[in-house]
Amino acid sequence: MKKFSESVTKSILTGVQPSGVITLGNYVGAIRQMAKMQEEYLSYIFVVDMHAITVPKDPKELHQNIRSLVALFIACGIDPEKNFIFLQSENEYHANISWLLECNTSFGELSRMTQFKDKSKKNVNFKAGLFTYPILMAADILAYDVDYVPVGIDQKQHVELARNIALHFNKTYGDTFKLPDVYITESQTKIMDLISPDKKMSKSSDNEKGIIKMLDKPDVIRKKIMGATTDSECLIKYDPLNKPGISNLINIATALSQYSIHDIENMFEGKNYGDFKRFVAEIVVQELSVIQEKYYQLIDSPELDKILDENIDIVRKIAKDKFLLMKKRMGMYR
Ligand code: TYM
Repeated sequence: MKKFSESVTKSILTGVQPSGVITLGNYVGAIRQMAKMQEEYLSYIFVVDMHAITVPKDPKELHQNIRSLVALFIACGIDPEKNFIFLQSENEYHANISWLLECNTSFGELSRMTQFKDKSKKNVNFKAGLFTYPILMAADILAYDVDYVPVGIDQKQHVELARNIALHFNKTYGDTFKLPDVYITESQTKIMDLISPDKKMSKSSDNEKGIIKMLDKPDVIRKKIMGATTDSECLIKYDPLNKPGISNLINIATALSQYSIHDIENMFEGKNYGDFKRFVAEIVVQELSVIQEKYYQLIDSPELDKILDENIDIVRKIAKDKFLLMKKRMGMYR
């Protein structure tokens, strides 16, 4: 098993919320990246169910979504032989570490998180957990002394906060954490909404037509891409500022194929938007069909529980050791 191979020296870690809707953005921004990197790194990938409950969730749905996400991870190429796949809530040391970090993070620094500002604006009755969410994320990361955290650009600020928290803790109490680096592989990794290409493609979007879900049927995917917002220029050129819709479709196509931005601009010189959209749609359909087939084989299989059971004891031990070290450093012992 590669998970235990001594030749692997660097590690990566990422988490994904079980929101029920995993978008093409999540796939490109995180899951697929992990599937590529698993060959080279010791890899942790987990379902962040405790982050999910920072906004109200229906318990039955949450339960189904957790299982579905594990199946999707594996269908997307996350190999259980090469990754530690687990549920965040099954490793209670994340929450324990989070509390110690909470007591070492300033309110001001946390108030600067842009995701909190956006989300709290949408619901004035937000819960305290929404505010402290980035600290739990820091705990997720710092528990394992990982080298890199592959995420979409929207999570960059949170990973930087984790790094700052670690730096501050090390300075105050002595060396305790490795400083993680954010890993954003492609500069244009942020996949935008198809209808409002000035916003990221988000599972919480109000308009279904703007998001591609990993389990959308081929015809639905085609319809959504054909209906994507573009502009009236009829020019297939990469220019995110002035042509956000076309640039987003180019990003989607380059992310899921061997073509570069330049290849696509050349291939579609003088062609119309309809041709280009059909091309992008087929790339997406092809990629997602393979994933969906594997997903439906896995979702009701006992194999899923076996994988989760096998991993949890190992990750609990690692996070527990970190928690005990933190407590010791902070003077919390008899
Ligand atoms: P979440 O569940 O919102 O998203 C999971 C991953 O998908 C990326 N992503 C995108 N990337 C590109 N374009 C998009 N439109 C897009 N939408 C989402 C996100 O950047 C993320 O990498 N707080 C995190 C989960 C988390 C985590 C962690 C991540 C909890 N603990 C520790 C890394 C390490 C979140 O809510 O991601």
